[in-house]
Amino acid sequence: MHTTCFRNDASFDWLYPENIQKLSRRHWTPLSIAKRSARFLANGPGKKILDIGSGVGKFCIIGANFFPDNLFYGIEQRRELYDHAMAAKAFTGLENADFIHGNFTQAELGEYDNFYFYNSFFENLDEQGRIDNLLEYSVSLYIYYSRYLFRALDARPSGTRLVTFHSLEEEVPPDYQVVEASPDLLLKMWIKR
Ligand SMILES: C[S@@+](CC[C@H](N)C(=O)[O-])C[C@H]1O[C@@H](n2cnc3c(N)ncnc32)[C@H](O)[C@@H]1O
Repeated sequence: MHTTCFRNDASFDWLYPENIQKLSRRHWTPLSIAKRSARFLANGPGKKILDIGSGVGKFCIIGANFFPDNLFYGIEQRRELYDHAMAAKAFTGLENADFIHGNFTQAELGEYDNFYFYNSFFENLDEQGRIDNLLEYSVSLYIYYSRYLFRALDARPSGTRLVTFHSLEEEVPPDYQVVEASPDLLLKMWIKR
């Protein structure tokens, strides 16, 4: 187990090659936010937590390290990022983190207890600072994904927990109530009524 990488964001970034480190500040969850979010989502042993758009696996690997009684999964549409997540999992030796390569619309969202969402669909609206230009981006895709996730979250049972970071909240159904937030309101923790 390599505990040094969990000291701060810079040491965590060393798990990845330089081109991935450069994306860190804008695209990967800061360590303190990941830890706080994971604590909220890991509300009992054996909870299955899904990161929707898991990138290089930062949220899941941090969550899995600090909350070993819970299972952290991530789904990521970009093959290269998924491969980096799997390599980081192997390096850290964490057995309670796992990753799926694919679009979140292909995942069985009903299999998970709680969800983490770092504004994954925003790349469809924002022409600046995209991870790459290899995908098709459009406003209609943003709307489609947001509505898809809204319906999936709406179908989850009462007590389901959700963390949003930098979200426009279009994917959050009205039954989800904010129970905790950061002072700048970028981080919100929700529980379904
Ligand atoms: C802002 S990054 C967050 C990464 C990770 N959750 C973290 O906190 O470090 C959003 C990620 O969502 C992925 N993504 C966007 N739309 C997706 C979709 N429809 N299905 C799966 N992944 C998606 C992007 O490729 C990107 O890696």
